[in-house]
Amino acid sequence: MNWHPETARYEAMTYNRCGRSGLLLPAVSLGLWHNFGGVDCFETGRRMVRLAFDHGVTHFDLANNYGPPPGSAEENFGVILRKDLAAHRDELVISTKAGYRMWPGPYGEWGSRKSLLASLDQSLRRLGLEYVDIFYSHRPDPATPIEETMQTLDSAVRQGKALYVGVSSYSVEQTRAAIDTLRRLGTPCLIHQPMYSMLNRWVEDGLLDLLGQEGIGCIAFSPLAHGLLTDRYLDGVPPDSRAAKPHTGLTPAAITEDILEKLHLLEPIARERGQTLAQMALAWLLKDPRVTSVLVGASRPQQLEDTLGCLRSAPFTREELDRIQGILKE
Ligand SMILES: NC(=O)c1ccc[n+]([C@@H]2O[C@H](COP(=O)([O-])OP(=O)(O)OC[C@H]3O[C@@H](n4cnc5c(N)ncnc54)[C@H](OP(=O)(O)O)[C@@H]3O)[C@@H](O)[C@H]2O)c1
Repeated sequence: MNWHPETARYEAMTYNRCGRSGLLLPAVSLGLWHNFGGVDCFETGRRMVRLAFDHGVTHFDLANNYGPPPGSAEENFGVILRKDLAAHRDELVISTKAGYRMWPGPYGEWGSRKSLLASLDQSLRRLGLEYVDIFYSHRPDPATPIEETMQTLDSAVRQGKALYVGVSSYSVEQTRAAIDTLRRLGTPCLIHQPMYSMLNRWVEDGLLDLLGQEGIGCIAFSPLAHGLLTDRYLDGVPPDSRAAKPHTGLTPAAITEDILEKLHLLEPIARERGQTLAQMALAWLLKDPRVTSVLVGASRPQQLEDTLGCLRSAPFTREELDRIQGILKE
């Protein structure tokens, strides 16, 4: 059956300004790190992309190495773009990144000009696009001068292959250097993509302050802590979950007693608020105006539907915030 996107798709979504730029991003964005690769069911991924777009999710996040195999998430998303979203390119913000190992030899990873521009060209070919909206340095490179990496991001924009640029997982000091260098070059840093969730709060130690002061957006990756901050693991490790699969970044050993205890204390607060733990975990991040968007993953459409319910969250009371803080600090 032919699919036509919901005509009312923009009504229920919140769009936040990305720092002090002209770009608005949806409060919830969809990431294609897992579940969209060559090993996954293409039609399930396609259903999730359609569902997201139907709900006003305009931002889809990729990287050169997403799959597995590496590159296959971009290829699959390219097919979905051509089949379903060809008429909607100007309604979409598509990002990709380079920095992690993608091909053999000395140029297949990190942040040199040689590596980043070759990777971006490969990504554009896989996606079937002339440009991406945001191109990221996926991780800081301790061996390449930051000037070279930033000059390369600037070149990508000047070549018309990216509209905006950003950095991911840069420390406070590295971010400050990236912001200053990009500003000097005339291509402002649009956004930082750090890991941020109730269970990983490193950005509260200076990064969010810097981004707020400098007018740079923040898109929080793994905001559900790879699925921990959901009902998924409350009663053990389900066989179809990320923790049960190899090489996913989440192992059963990482689900410690301490984390489980926190989840079991947080879940009733979410229930009292009339929402799921996933919805509360996302609303808790989005209450900070410096957080532009939460970048979620999903393995099935129902999860995404649940997740999008965070947009209807009641504001947190002081008492709820104190209780949550007490649990997270324990
Ligand atoms: N810049 C970087 O270095 C970097 C690194 C990592 C991720 N990212 C970006 O961030 C995106 C999201 O990362 P992530 O997938 O780790 O995010 P996440 O949202 O923390 O975790 C997603 C996982 O949580 C579970 N889940 C999601 N919604 C659920 C719900 N409503 N109820 C129950 N379970 C739910 C699913 O696990 P199951 O699969 O077990 O069902 C899903 O695969 C990536 O796709 C990527 O775009 C960037």
